[in-house]
Amino acid sequence: MKETIRVGIIGLGGISRVHAAAYRGYGDNAILVSGADPDTPARKKFHETFGINAYVNYKEMLASEDLDAVSVCVPNFLHARVALDCLDAHCNVYCEKPPAINELEVMDMIEAAKKKDLLLMWAFNNRYRPEAQLIKRLIDMDDGITGIGNIYQVSTSWRRRNGIPMRGGWFTKKAESGGGSLIDLGVHVLDLAMWVLDYPKIRTVVGSVGDNFGRQKSHNGPWGKPDSQGLFNVEDYASAFITTTDGCAIKLESSWASHREGEQVALEILGMKGSLKMNRKFRVEGDDNAAVDRLRFYHDNGEAWVDEELHVTPDPAMGRIAGVRHFVDCVQDRELEPVVKPEEGYQLMCLLRAIYASAEKGEAIQFSATA
Ligand SMILES: NC(=O)c1ccc[n+]([C@@H]2O[C@H](COP(=O)([O-])OP(=O)(O)OC[C@H]3O[C@@H](n4cnc5c(N)ncnc54)[C@H](O)[C@@H]3O)[C@@H](O)[C@H]2O)c1
Repeated sequence: MKETIRVGIIGLGGISRVHAAAYRGYGDNAILVSGADPDTPARKKFHETFGINAYVNYKEMLASEDLDAVSVCVPNFLHARVALDCLDAHCNVYCEKPPAINELEVMDMIEAAKKKDLLLMWAFNNRYRPEAQLIKRLIDMDDGITGIGNIYQVSTSWRRRNGIPMRGGWFTKKAESGGGSLIDLGVHVLDLAMWVLDYPKIRTVVGSVGDNFGRQKSHNGPWGKPDSQGLFNVEDYASAFITTTDGCAIKLESSWASHREGEQVALEILGMKGSLKMNRKFRVEGDDNAAVDRLRFYHDNGEAWVDEELHVTPDPAMGRIAGVRHFVDCVQDRELEPVVKPEEGYQLMCLLRAIYASAEKGEAIQFSATA
C-alpha cells in the first residue's frame, strides 16, 4: 500500500489554489497539512477555502510540520531560495514555472536535490494536457510506418490580446519576475516544443522582444487591481527562431497584449508524413473554463489529403491538477519516471537567456548549454 504524503504549500496566491485542490482531491495519496504566506488576506482566504491555518513565515512551517513535499508557488525571484530551504528541510519540491529567474539558480536547485536524493519537479503542466499526451504518444510510437515521420519544424505560441498581468505587481518588475511574456507564457510553450523533440541539442537562437503595449500605462489585463503608475520594465511580446543541431526549426511567439483575435495557445508539429496541431482558444481572456481545445492531424493516405479531428477528454485545468498528482505519485514511488526532468528546466532557462541576449545584441547566438 502507498504511503500518504504530507504536503505544504508556500505562497498562497492565485495558482496555489489549484495545487491545494489537486492535493485535497487525491484521496489517501496526499494530505494537505499547511501553507505559508506573509500576506494576511492570502492566509485568510486559504483558511476560508481549505479550513487550514497557514504560517506567516515558511521557514517556521518547514521547522514545525513533518512534511514530505512542498509546492513552491511564490513569485519567480523567490523560487530558488524557497526551494533550496525546502530541500534543506528534506522535502521533495514541486516548483511552479519558470524554474527560477536564471539558469544559475536552477543549477543550484538541481545540485541540492541530487545531494539530498529528493525529487525536484517543475510545474510544466501543459505536458499533462490530454492533447499533449496524445501528441507525445503518437510521436514516440513512430515505427517508420505509423506516426508523423521526421519532424522538421515546430511552431509554438501563447498570445494574449489584452493580458498584461497586474501592472505594478511582481509580474511586471524584472527583478522579481525575471522577464515578461517570454518567461511567463513563452516558457510553457517552449517547454512543449522541446519536450516533443526530446529536448534536442540547440545550434542557434535569434530573439526579438518589445514593450509596445506595456509602455502605454492604460493597457492592463483583467487580473487583480493594476497600478497604472506601477513599474513596468519587462517585455510584453517576444519571438524567437531556434535551430537544432539535427536540422529542426522551432518558432516561438509569446505576448501579453497584441491586436489579434484573442488569447490562444498553439503547438504545430510538422513531420514528413503528417502534422499535428493543438490549439486552445480562450473565449474569455484568461478564463480556462471558457476555453476550447482542439487537436488536428493532417496527412495524406496515398490517394488524398486527410484532415482528422482527434478527440480527447478536455481538461479545462490545462494539466495543472494532473501535474501535481503525478508529482505525488513520484514521491510515493521513486521507481516511477518523472514526466519532467530537473535538467530540462536548466536547458530551458539557458534558452530563455539566449533569446533575451540575442534580442539585446540584435544578432544570432551560437547556443551552448550543458547540465
Ligand atoms: N502553471 C501555471 O499555469 C501558473 C499559473 C499562474 C502562476 N504560475 C506561477 O506560480 C507562481 C505564483 O504565481 P501566482 O499567480 O499565484 O502569484 P500571486 O502573486 O497570486 O501569489 C504569490 C503569493 O506568494 C506570496 N509570497 C510572497 N513572498 C512570499 C514568501 N517569502 N513566503 C511565502 N509566500 C510568499 C505572496 O504574498 C502571494 O500571495 C509564479 O511563479 C507564477 O509564474 C503558474
